[in-house]
Amino acid sequence: MNVGVLASGGGTNLQALIAATARGELGPARIAAVGVNVPGCGALLRAEQAGIATFVLDHKTFASREGFDAALVETLHEHRVELVVLAGFMRLLTPGFLAAFPHRVVNIHPALLPAFPGTHAQKQALDYGVKVSGCTVHFVDSGTDTGPIIAQTAVPLLDGDDEASLAARILVEEHRLLPAVVRAIAEGRVSVEGRRVTVR
Ligand code: GRF
Repeated sequence: MNVGVLASGGGTNLQALIAATARGELGPARIAAVGVNVPGCGALLRAEQAGIATFVLDHKTFASREGFDAALVETLHEHRVELVVLAGFMRLLTPGFLAAFPHRVVNIHPALLPAFPGTHAQKQALDYGVKVSGCTVHFVDSGTDTGPIIAQTAVPLLDGDDEASLAARILVEEHRLLPAVVRAIAEGRVSVEGRRVTVR
């Protein structure tokens, strides 16, 4: 299964997918292309270093969200992408994009959804005072972090945690969870019925 990874930032989740590939842990999934909307971001450099095909589509150069997403779809299709993984991709996708990849777009979020969607999820968890947060991999729908949940890992908050320390501990779990879910989808072990997702 050809996977397209979209990212905007440092790319540690992309790196985890690359490492899982090297260890033979991504099953029949292979990273066919990495696309970024932020020229020069860490994810782009990591992909280039790994010898993966890359593309840059800067959303600021597009007049509309629809135009940007249409270009994304076209480029992903050129790379024969079948599964889209959002790994720190900081753009909301339009219904047009999602229709091109039905139940084939997943996102990783650094909180236990439906708690703390959107940006700064770790700070939201700290400010709220929860004792447990974590990470979620979910199918993407047109809302912000609202799609059907595929898998989650809990991470406790510790006394003295700040945003950086909590984010770092959650990232450790993200780097395990995301490759495992990508593999499960590629192996045909994930089914969806309404909001309920089963992983065999
Ligand atoms: C991760 O915390 C992910 O959950 C969120 O954005 C961050 C991306 O980190 N969506 P990285 O670019 O993979 O290092």
